[in-house]
Amino acid sequence: MQTEIAERLLEWYDQHARSLPWRKRDPDPYAVWVSESMLQQTRVETVIPYYERWMARFPTLAALASAGEQDVLQAWEGLGYYSRARNLHRAARQVMERFAGRLPADRAALESLPGIGRYTAGAIASIAFGLDEPALDGNIRRVYARLFDVEVPARSPDGEKRLWDLAAKNLPAGRAGDFNQALMDLGASVCTPRSPSCRLCPLNGSCRAFALGVQEERPVLTAR
Ligand code: ADE
Repeated sequence: MQTEIAERLLEWYDQHARSLPWRKRDPDPYAVWVSESMLQQTRVETVIPYYERWMARFPTLAALASAGEQDVLQAWEGLGYYSRARNLHRAARQVMERFAGRLPADRAALESLPGIGRYTAGAIASIAFGLDEPALDGNIRRVYARLFDVEVPARSPDGEKRLWDLAAKNLPAGRAGDFNQALMDLGASVCTPRSPSCRLCPLNGSCRAFALGVQEERPVLTAR
């Protein structure tokens, strides 16, 4: 469905997309996977030099699969959360064996690999393969919680279901990769956790939280 939200956001993205080394016209699925694995728990600015070094050292999925564990861990050194590196390595070996060396263009098959959860599978499927799949990360959760004034705690089972449903429903067919990344960029630069720049937001005319003046109260954090 091409909603007004998608139309306005894609237009904004044409002008404001961040230029990032893994964003290519015809992206290599392996490169997208590496970038999304690094970005799971690490900020974009920190990831960029690690990503560049990693791709120089392990330029292909086959190169990563045949590398030794110590080399892989060393290339990850400084990023932390080393299970991400171990999972990348293990998954690369599985892709060689189970999928003839090519990442599968299918969300469920991607999720069967170590370290690839719903978010990462959706990101790879949409960005690398052009599939109409949502990908909900922290930034996108916040954007949807505000656009649709989601009052249930975002991380509760109800909130998760509501947000994934919204992310699926609002996806523009054939443009999911750009749309998902546009939501990430909007969340990083405009729809920020505190003091969002609502006056500059291309979606302010569609944002329920903005209309009600409750944008800073969304998303609702789970009560502790
Ligand atoms: N954070 C996670 N994935 C990202 C991407 N593809 N672009 C920008 N920020 C991101």
